[in-house]
Amino acid sequence: MKDLYGREITYLRLSVTELCNLRCAYCMPSGGVCKRAHEEMLTEDEMIAAIECAAEIGVRKVRITGGEPLVKKNILSICERAAKVSGIEEVCLTTNGTLLAPLAAPLRAAGVRRINISMDTLDAEKYARITRGGRLDDALAGLDAALSAGFDRVKVNAVLLGGVNDDEIASLAALTQKYPVDVRFIELMPMSGTAKDAGSYLPCDTVLQKLPDAVEQENDGGVARLYRLPNAQGCVGLISPRSAHFCAWCNRLRVTADGHLKPCLHAPDLLCIKGCTKEEMRERFERAVFAKPRCHGELTEEVPSEAGRSMNRIGG
Ligand code: GTP
Ligand code: 5AD
Ligand code: SF4
Repeated sequence: MKDLYGREITYLRLSVTELCNLRCAYCMPSGGVCKRAHEEMLTEDEMIAAIECAAEIGVRKVRITGGEPLVKKNILSICERAAKVSGIEEVCLTTNGTLLAPLAAPLRAAGVRRINISMDTLDAEKYARITRGGRLDDALAGLDAALSAGFDRVKVNAVLLGGVNDDEIASLAALTQKYPVDVRFIELMPMSGTAKDAGSYLPCDTVLQKLPDAVEQENDGGVARLYRLPNAQGCVGLISPRSAHFCAWCNRLRVTADGHLKPCLHAPDLLCIKGCTKEEMRERFERAVFAKPRCHGELTEEVPSEAGRSMNRIGG
């Protein structure tokens, strides 16, 4: 289905939980996550019904997000059922990787085709600081397991944090030379309710200045501008929601863990599918496509996202 601006909507990001075992300052509210009643959150059956409605209006790819999707006890069942929905060609998952080591092979067997792992630093102390207590070794073990599990592609996401990880751009990018992975640098998006001191905003061009050997590549249909280092097995990607937003090519809808349909990452809550019949749900999906704004406003520290939620409650 096309939106009012002619964009074909083919990609659903489904957040299965707001909870996470880590506490990244740019993502989580400083007071931590407020655990909510089960009745307020989508059930597994409602999630699958949402994917079916999305498929009926033309969605072909589902990305499972969180919070951290792997803290969800029924994650394998959700992925397995999502992969079987008629019309869905690809189920992908974004994770912090720390719980991935024992789950990578079962997720692949459940039909997950691609995995993106968040890793903002390769320094264990810094990792513990950024994530407020996470262990880098756990995330690296997750990456290792993902690489052995036979996914179509594995990507590493690093949020650019000025004063925190700008000295690691070259070493993070070098992962593309060591492993068959893409490494994507993401501009920090100021979200409501999250700490202002996670790091300063760095535009993606900073990455190019630090990688003089990077050669531009053809776009693969995703949101990242792609580059390649000499002898690399994967690409370096730049995701620049602030310095060069990609709204004109946006093909996605989002469903939050509490059932809000977000036509745009930065749009305020509008439509809820919790407790809906299948027919009502389908109608709300159509309304969400038509409600998709042409683009989001400029994101600055003074005027942050209008999403009205921290990132863990949207799913990125
Ligand atoms: P691929 O399927 O591998 O292309 O993944 P992806 O980039 O769509 O998903 P991922 O979960 O890895 O997200 C990477 C980063 O892109 C996160 O910081 C997201 O918040 C950001 N992102 C994804 N979609 C959008 C979007 O529609 N708008 C904006 N501004 N940022 C987005
Ligand atoms: N700005 C940019 N990216 C963010 N992510 C979480 N919060 C933010 C933010 N404020 C990233 C995570 C993960 C992806 C889904 O979103 O690091 O890789
Ligand atoms: Fe958890 Fe990912 Fe948010 Fe970090 S960015 S707190 S790992 S959901």
